[in-house]
Amino acid sequence: MELGLTGRRAVVTGGSKGIGLEVSKELAREGASVSICARNPDEVSAAAKELRELGGTVHDQVVDVTDPEQVTGYIASAAEALGGIDILVNNAGAAHPGTFSTLADEDWQADLDVKLFSQIRCTRAALPHLRQSSAPRVVNINAVYAKYPDHKFFATTVNRAACLNLSKALALEFGPEGILVNSVNIGFVVTPQWENIRSKRAPELGQEEFFSQWAAAEVPLGRFGDVSEVSGIVTFLASDRASYITGASIDVAGGMGRYV
Ligand SMILES: NC(=O)c1ccc[n+]([C@@H]2O[C@H](COP(=O)([O-])OP(=O)(O)OC[C@H]3O[C@@H](n4cnc5c(N)ncnc54)[C@H](OP(=O)(O)O)[C@@H]3O)[C@@H](O)[C@H]2O)c1
Repeated sequence: MELGLTGRRAVVTGGSKGIGLEVSKELAREGASVSICARNPDEVSAAAKELRELGGTVHDQVVDVTDPEQVTGYIASAAEALGGIDILVNNAGAAHPGTFSTLADEDWQADLDVKLFSQIRCTRAALPHLRQSSAPRVVNINAVYAKYPDHKFFATTVNRAACLNLSKALALEFGPEGILVNSVNIGFVVTPQWENIRSKRAPELGQEEFFSQWAAAEVPLGRFGDVSEVSGIVTFLASDRASYITGASIDVAGGMGRYV
């Protein structure tokens, strides 16, 4: 399928590893130039090196997306390095475990900053560039827990619901300008984030055993997903082949979620 991504300019937050890195690679393989950011400088450089080996233009920057000034500076440098922005993938984020009883205001605020406010600020900063694009796209990486509350990830579940609403409301406001905004809602996908959880909670279990035990309870497909099972849909939504899709909320979750 020809996706029409050659020459498109994409910004992927949290592109140094996990889902963000795989999305960046797939966009680069389809001919897009890519800018990535994250906080860990070594991981940002290593990811940028991998991306450069795929061919196109790559821009990378160490950025904390919870810092409004860093976000503004980053989006401006990415636009300058790539010559504009056609695609924004708001992917940076992390799960924040904790129940209502254990989470303090600071935990709620930190989780809101990395999830909701990073998507708001990156989108706001990218907007003038997206308005100049012939095929502007925003893809927000969210979680099925937005629609499927889990009290063990209390802040995540509540804040992701806000992110889902943000995607839909952005699609309504910017549809008339042709800016398409969609949400991809992740269930359980093996990434460094989950490897950290396994090494803390069950270091005695191998990856496969830990992930299959966790998945057995909640995932109809009975397994965790792979990052390559997310990057395809994100790349498709960023492409010309998705030109009539906006305001959509698409689960990539192996069937998780008892809702219609
Ligand atoms: N994997 C899953 O099962 C799952 C489920 C639901 C939702 N998600 C969402 O999917 C997205 C990607 O997750 P992942 O599993 O690929 O996680 P990951 O492997 O931990 O990667 C997260 C990426 O975001 C970056 N990041 C985190 N906080 C940041 C900050 N404050 N500023 C800039 N960059 C930041 C990380 O780099 P640094 O740490 O160096 O900054 C990294 O590049 C996240 O939004 C996550 O919440 C994932």
